Amino acid sequence: MPKDLEKEKELAAKEAVKFITNDLVVGLGTGSTAFYVLKEVARLVNEGLRIKAVPTSNKTAEIAGKFNIPLLDINSIDHIDITIDGADEFNRDLVLIKGGGGALLKEKIVASMTRQEIIIADSSKQVLKLGKFPLPVEVIPFASSYVKRELALLGGLGNTRMKNDTLFLTDQGNYIIDIHFGPIEDPVDLADKLNRMEGIVCHGLFIGLANTLIMGVAETGTTITYSK
Ligand code: 5RP
Repeated sequence: MPKDLEKEKELAAKEAVKFITNDLVVGLGTGSTAFYVLKEVARLVNEGLRIKAVPTSNKTAEIAGKFNIPLLDINSIDHIDITIDGADEFNRDLVLIKGGGGALLKEKIVASMTRQEIIIADSSKQVLKLGKFPLPVEVIPFASSYVKRELALLGGLGNTRMKNDTLFLTDQGNYIIDIHFGPIEDPVDLADKLNRMEGIVCHGLFIGLANTLIMGVAETGTTITYSK
């Protein structure tokens, strides 16, 4: 029987939300798993939970607004207490691939300002080696073909992301190239090379940013927590 991945997302989200207490500044992730967090936080805010939240995308800001979750301008604060976000892949070192939803840049900035970054996932996201999921790389449009050629020299073949027959644009107006590297043997080395490539604004390798990962397990209705 196929696993109930939606159930696993919800289980992980509800477990993670237990870490949120009054007066915290909370980073809100982007994507279908993070959506369960938004729903749960909205319920708690409605019951009197006092928090301020920082969204990781325009989409999340829009949903949070509809749910009456109070938002903060990220430039008015110097840290975020706790962020709950999803991932496209994770390994046992809590190295992640993120950016399937295109929000990687704001997600990485929010994660970098966060004291406790909790990643929530269903069990399909757990891998021994990262790389089955194509690595999202956000590029400024001016540099997109240059970056594609440079990535090919590193062994990565990429397509510029499309949405409804047009080029996908990030919240910042940039393109995303989704690159297939095959199994990523050394994420730190690859991240270092991508960090040094002109035209790349952000890549989806999140290294040393997640403190906790909560994975839902549908069969038992429980979660497994990995911590660093
Ligand atoms: C968005 C992300 C998401 O966290 C990631 O794509 C997972 O999404 P989902 O929970 O829908 O599977 O990085 O940029």
